[in-house]
Amino acid sequence: MLKLIPKPQKIEQKDGVFVLEDEINVAGDISSNILMQLKNTLLPSVGTVVKPQAEYTTNSMFFILDSSIKTEGYHLIIKEDGITIKASEDSGFFYSLMTLYQLLMNNGRKLPHLVIEDYPRFSYRSFMLDVGRYFYSVQDVKHFIDIMALLKLNVLHIHLTEDQGWRIEIDKYPLLTKQGSMRSHTNFNHKPHGGFYTKSAIKEIIEYAHASYIKVIPEIDMPGHMQAAISCYKYLSCFDRKLEVATHWGVKHDILCAGKETTYEFVKDVLTEVMEMFPDGYIHLGGDEAVKTRWNLCPHCKKKMAELNVTADELQSFFMNEIAEFVMSKGYKVIIWNENTNDKFLSKDVIWNYYMGGKKFDKVMVDEINNGRKCINVSSEAYYFDLPYHDISLKQAYNYEPVFEGIDKDKADSVLGVECDLWTEYVEDMKVATRKLFPRMFAMAESSWLEPSKKNYDEFVNRLEIPVNIVESMTGFKTTSVKDANPKKSKAFFEKMWFERRQLHWQGLHNLFDNANVKMKAKKSK
Ligand code: ACM
Ligand code: ZN
Repeated sequence: MLKLIPKPQKIEQKDGVFVLEDEINVAGDISSNILMQLKNTLLPSVGTVVKPQAEYTTNSMFFILDSSIKTEGYHLIIKEDGITIKASEDSGFFYSLMTLYQLLMNNGRKLPHLVIEDYPRFSYRSFMLDVGRYFYSVQDVKHFIDIMALLKLNVLHIHLTEDQGWRIEIDKYPLLTKQGSMRSHTNFNHKPHGGFYTKSAIKEIIEYAHASYIKVIPEIDMPGHMQAAISCYKYLSCFDRKLEVATHWGVKHDILCAGKETTYEFVKDVLTEVMEMFPDGYIHLGGDEAVKTRWNLCPHCKKKMAELNVTADELQSFFMNEIAEFVMSKGYKVIIWNENTNDKFLSKDVIWNYYMGGKKFDKVMVDEINNGRKCINVSSEAYYFDLPYHDISLKQAYNYEPVFEGIDKDKADSVLGVECDLWTEYVEDMKVATRKLFPRMFAMAESSWLEPSKKNYDEFVNRLEIPVNIVESMTGFKTTSVKDANPKKSKAFFEKMWFERRQLHWQGLHNLFDNANVKMKAKKSK
């Protein structure tokens, strides 16, 4: 059995092998990037040297552009005289190389004769990395990109702003990174933690991702999760509160004030620079976990609510739509988390990142799709890979079906694809990330690519060995075993208790006193 992940749509294995020599001829419709990937990445892994040729010869890799092949798909034919690859575009050629790489890791230079016909189920295959809670270096991000490429994922969603840190350089607001990128200590130790990406670092990440046909989508989360920004520019909050970059997790009550014009100016300025940096056509505007405690007391927000004749939740819908329209007017698509169900104002063109799993929200998503919205499924019941394996086992992640029953047949394409998320409250480095993500990310990658009728959990597990070896050598850390990724209930109970206990820190209590304090001051100032 060939241990490939994601499994190709169709494999026909034949008798015989083609042995890769010390040199291989390369010819046909090959771009400079594909040649670079062959020379620098694929073939050095088995010590073979590339010899570009003007025309077809035997002992070759021959690339043929063929417009009849599906988008991002490829045909890979290995026989006595060499390897032929057909695709309708470069990304297809690239994915054939990723399959070839896994074949080389299976078989060494002795490649079996075969025909593979392959294409993805979804056009949007994403991984979200939260660099706000813990910062990940450019080198770490490149490791993630290499793994994504191996698994044929094509979107890196990077969550760049959080209560605990602002990670992207914005010229007009230099304090965001000067002060807002550093917290005085973490939940777990008394050491400061921080970091940010300069504009040139962002460019480096994007160029690196593009070489593997991966889009990079930035998330600037608003109006909640903005405490780091508020700590630099206090006028962004409702009561001009002087706050620090958050040190602990939890939902913060000081969010952007939606009543002051200066907030809208700030956000638009930031997004203008963000759009200049990220050329891939999508911006994620967050929109999650924005509690309205301050808005309901703030004179500016109350005035805005009265003018619009709306509730606080509807004010969020207004705020998100104002910003979304601004971004869309620049030719970008907008994505937000599917949280605000009072979406009175939100344009149908805004794409939902569907994360609030469960029957109730699944139904909301079905209705939204049937009413014309597009979604990306990142259900927290299947694809939140920071959660303990008890909450989301490998089997559960694998067997999850992202396109729900009830979606009209002509709207099936409105589920653009899937995403897995790594929130990093408890993921401080690559070691923990490797343990959390793998093998679950293999499961999501397979669902993103392979038709559901061709999926089979037991057979998937038997294909894990080679991808696991590759990922462990890429990150230098151990993945979780299949056994531990499907924990027994008794063990799972303690794991869950540990996780829940850490969630229940003093933040809840702090919010209680803090809210009472703000309320008292608001009353006094009347
Ligand atoms: C989220 O999990 N707050 C998007
Ligand atoms: Zn306000």
